[in-house]
Amino acid sequence: MFKSHLTAVIFILLFSLPPIYGDFDYMQLVLTWPASFCYRPRYLCKRTAPNNFTIHGLWPDNEQRRLQFCTSTEYSLFDGDILDDLDRHWIQLKFDKETGMQDQPLWHEQFRKHGTCCENRYKQMPYFLLAMRLKNKFDLLTTLRTHGIIPGTKHTFDEIQKAIKTVTNQVDPDLKCVQHIQGVPELNEIGICFTPAADRFFPCPQSKSCPKTGTKILFR
Ligand SMILES: *[C@@H]1O[C@H](CO)[C@@H](O)[C@H](O)[C@H]1NC(C)=O
Repeated sequence: MFKSHLTAVIFILLFSLPPIYGDFDYMQLVLTWPASFCYRPRYLCKRTAPNNFTIHGLWPDNEQRRLQFCTSTEYSLFDGDILDDLDRHWIQLKFDKETGMQDQPLWHEQFRKHGTCCENRYKQMPYFLLAMRLKNKFDLLTTLRTHGIIPGTKHTFDEIQKAIKTVTNQVDPDLKCVQHIQGVPELNEIGICFTPAADRFFPCPQSKSCPKTGTKILFR
């Protein structure tokens, strides 16, 4: 009697509570194209823009409900060897190197805003290592070049998407554009989505900031 009561109570609790934090459908690795990110405003970047994609963040999310700032877990400052790796793959363009290494503002912000949403699977260190491991699965710069998409040229949405899909097992990435110059959409970021276990690609929800038809997209 007691036992089945307890079961019932647990059952009701499980289904009446809001979804548990860290419950996510997919995670999106967002890679920034520095030439576009640093183009305007001129003072935005304190570091020299590298000629390669760099990590903006790894964003666990749901298709229905946006996840942000999921727990109050604080960011612990990194030190030691990992700092060089992070600086190489996840450069904090808006801060000079010294400030970046000391205060780690981008990494801190990304962890608080997004990393806390996958804590049930990845604590801080594994989260950052995973982001770098996923980034290093691709050489998007070479992939794009192989398809004739080189800095300074313009291409259709389909051409860019098709090129990227050759390395995502034909799964849709999310292209993100900005217009630094009115009427000239340019590729600013590429999102590639993964299952929570990061063992397969996942079709990215589309942010629709790049024109799908008509105007070509500049790869700055
Ligand atoms: C660009 O980054 C990718 C992935 O991290 C790497 O494999 C590639 O060697 C880099 N290319 C250059 C020119 O630095």
